[in-house]
Amino acid sequence: MLSSDRLRIVLAASEAVPFSKTGGLADVSMALAKSLDTLGHSVTVIVPDYRQLRLSKQEQRPDVADTELRFSLSMNGRYVTGGVNWTMLPDSGVKVLLVSQPDYFDRPQLYMEDGQGYVDNCARFCFFSRAVMEVCQQMVLRPDIIHCNDWQTGLIPALLHSQFAGRPGFENAASVMTLHNMAFQGRFWSPDMPLTDMDGSYFNMHHMESWGDLNLLKTGISFADQITTVSPTYAREVCTAEGGEGLDALLSYRRKDLTGILNGIDTAIWNPESDPFLPASYSVQEINPGKAVCKSALQERMGLPQRDRVPLFGMVSRMSDQKGFDLLAECASRLLFDDIQIAFLGTGDARYEDYLQHLAHEHPSRVAVYIGFDEGLAHQIEAGADGFLMPSRFEPCGLNQMYSLRYGTLPIVRRIGGLADSVVNVDPETLRAGVATGFVFDDYSSTQLAETVERAVELYRQPNVWEQVIKNGMSADWSWQNSARQYVETYRRAIERRHDRAADNRQ
Ligand code: ADP
Ligand code: GLC
Repeated sequence: MLSSDRLRIVLAASEAVPFSKTGGLADVSMALAKSLDTLGHSVTVIVPDYRQLRLSKQEQRPDVADTELRFSLSMNGRYVTGGVNWTMLPDSGVKVLLVSQPDYFDRPQLYMEDGQGYVDNCARFCFFSRAVMEVCQQMVLRPDIIHCNDWQTGLIPALLHSQFAGRPGFENAASVMTLHNMAFQGRFWSPDMPLTDMDGSYFNMHHMESWGDLNLLKTGISFADQITTVSPTYAREVCTAEGGEGLDALLSYRRKDLTGILNGIDTAIWNPESDPFLPASYSVQEINPGKAVCKSALQERMGLPQRDRVPLFGMVSRMSDQKGFDLLAECASRLLFDDIQIAFLGTGDARYEDYLQHLAHEHPSRVAVYIGFDEGLAHQIEAGADGFLMPSRFEPCGLNQMYSLRYGTLPIVRRIGGLADSVVNVDPETLRAGVATGFVFDDYSSTQLAETVERAVELYRQPNVWEQVIKNGMSADWSWQNSARQYVETYRRAIERRHDRAADNRQ
């Protein structure tokens, strides 16, 4: 690669494995960073330094050192000091900078406790976004691209456009804003505006204000040079009233700068041939006995009867309205009429946690639930289950269906967002063509979900066909390479747009 082709990329995110994680964003930010590094670019990831890092198990905890950089930001009239720790991601050239501010980030959770968001989330993530700019400047990172993710970093494109425009170190910097989930927008009351350090005149409907509130996701969309969503279908959905969560008009207006890029998966971490969490390994060439061993071990761990010919469905998910738990509740008795087993892993809304625990109590030989966050069990469910449930109301991308495909576990999904872009429905034609990989339904309806699970159970009773569908899914390539290349193209478009803007301003 010519040095002029090598981009200096700063990727800012509110979570990244192995430092912190509540959902797919954490997997995506780190896996993308690694892939961009492999393509020859220079990548620095900046994340908050949460307590989670200190709590991680000794063997998973990266060695972190203090850079000794300190900075102070005026937060609504009060000075708040931050520091920066750093580490390198093992086996890569990716540098990770952790913004430390114990009052903001040394807390039990990342964003909320007991279902309530922290009351100072606006201050916490305005501080983080402003710290990213401060760190870029003081550590002379001279980014070509600042890649922002979700509302927690939505302020960055605005800062780059205003007070940081043309500052030394930012002459060439363009911004990309990735939308992982439009349901979370970072909406705060207008008196929080000074926390952003932006001029009050930007509090208007074209920039930072939405329905009287400060909206940090809208801010990012308004100011970013390019916008991406985490799947092509989601890019179309966010431009509609149904999927745009009130920002569809703005996104339609910016349609030419909006690209949908399907997430990949980290194929080193999610690999049934070498997964350290599994009791046995397997591959597309030799699925059994490895997968059968994983199934039996999962049944044992979850307290389900160890039977090999019963279809076992898994679900690993944040327990929120997004993920279709209400549909499952509506059709549970119909589903459990069949001889099937279901293993759930997740945390989230108390009403779903309680409901599932109740269901397991009522049907101990069919339903098992583990409430909590458990990386190892997530891998064991992906491997040990026969089918995987994702009846989401909306799903910007979804990673679990791709993990499932790679682990020979047939996904049952709704035809929306990234699920539509990654799973091919089993029907006579797709079976004949050798491309069927799972079961897809259209409407957000419990009847359709139940019918689709019944279709899966029926196919399970034809082991040869079932195995062929497993093989179709396991053979597909879900690695990041292709998606990382698309991000690089998007970065180059962002840089072009940034130059055009600069030229316009000079005229
Ligand atoms: P989202 O980001 O909307 O939660 P994704 O499918 O993109 O959905 O990613 C979810 C990620 O979080 C997956 O890696 C999944 O395995 C993981 N995950 C979710 N809940 C849990 C849990 N309770 N324990 C372990 N991993 C979980
Ligand atoms: C969000 C979405 C999920 C997506 C993930 C990573 O949390 O809900 O669909 O896979 O971000 O992009």
